Amino acid sequence: MQNPTGVLELGKEYPPPGEDAVIAELERISVELLKRDYPANVRPARRDAHAKHHGCVKGKLSIEADLPIALKVGIFKEPRHYPALIRFSNGDRHAQDDTKGDTRGIAIKLLGVEGEKVLESEKHEQTQDFTLVNHPVFAIRDAQDYLELFQLLIKGGNKLKFFFPGINPRQWRLHEFKIATTINRKKIISPLEIQYWSMTPYQLGTGAAKFSVKPQVVGVAPKAIPKSPHYLHTAMVNHLATQEARFDFLVQLQTDPYRMPIEDPTIAWDEAVSPYQKVATLTIPPQAFDSPEQMAFCENLSYSPWHSLPEHKPLGGINRVRKHIYESIARLRHEMNNVPYQEPTDSTI
Ligand code: HEM
Repeated sequence: MQNPTGVLELGKEYPPPGEDAVIAELERISVELLKRDYPANVRPARRDAHAKHHGCVKGKLSIEADLPIALKVGIFKEPRHYPALIRFSNGDRHAQDDTKGDTRGIAIKLLGVEGEKVLESEKHEQTQDFTLVNHPVFAIRDAQDYLELFQLLIKGGNKLKFFFPGINPRQWRLHEFKIATTINRKKIISPLEIQYWSMTPYQLGTGAAKFSVKPQVVGVAPKAIPKSPHYLHTAMVNHLATQEARFDFLVQLQTDPYRMPIEDPTIAWDEAVSPYQKVATLTIPPQAFDSPEQMAFCENLSYSPWHSLPEHKPLGGINRVRKHIYESIARLRHEMNNVPYQEPTDSTI
């Protein structure tokens, strides 16, 4: 955190010098990896991360009435409903068996969101996205560390070398290793019955916040983990055949710029110091969602934390990396698949 005065302020970013060059190199490597994974005879080209989805469903986000003034910002300004497209996924860059431990993601795209968006190229789009996974902290601190990991991966090196680069324990990334191991071992019973976190912070008015999405309805899925490779899709089909799924949408305000850093998403923000507060309800009504058309529609959507109003602008180094990579990867895979790259509108669904 390269603040010349050493004093940190709430809601402020502190990009380190030279970060732009690091991000440009990361973008170059990501593009190279995607092209390498998907030569011309392998189509469709999938996402560079969260390649496998369990389903893309329709729902709505209903904003709470009478929120405290500090939370009445952006989409939370007034009580209303937003139509939503929600994609559930495994985190791996390859579509793998659901019985393997992995990160699980939820990506929420709100439609009909008025106001100019932060990306110059998508200023007039009407979408606001939120991307969350089933763990509160990320295993990589910043762009520079991400580059070291990527440089290792592109050479076909072992990920362990990133965490333990040598015999000197001072160089070990033990804190990050513990997070990565916990995340990579996660097995779940249903994507509709787990809690998700944004990991990285976002602007909330003049301050900053992290987000979480927590299920209200649990116990619908069977208790034991089935053996089938695609059981998470089946769990969603079975749940939504008869019942709705409902989640609380929560925000955690940054109240201490030192103990709740913007620039290091490996540090959990203490809930005893700043508890999560409910701002909205995400409802997914019963529905059939696995027609080939809907599956293809899902594949062709692009989610990004940067599909955003300025009031919810992504913050911190990892989010600054995501700004460039999500857009170039999403554009490239659409080009490779010969499908238009465009945001959906209210009338698309
Ligand atoms: C520097 C760090 C990161 C990089 C480079 C990265 C990269 C990517 C890329 C390239 C995609 C696919 C984009 C597309 O083709 O549409 C993606 C998807 C996703 N990422 Fe990340 N990511 C990063 C960090 C994170 C973090 C911290 C989270 C935590 C919430 C996250 C959650 C997701 C989710 C949920 C998706 C799936 C979105 C969907 O369903 O379409 N990512 N990521």
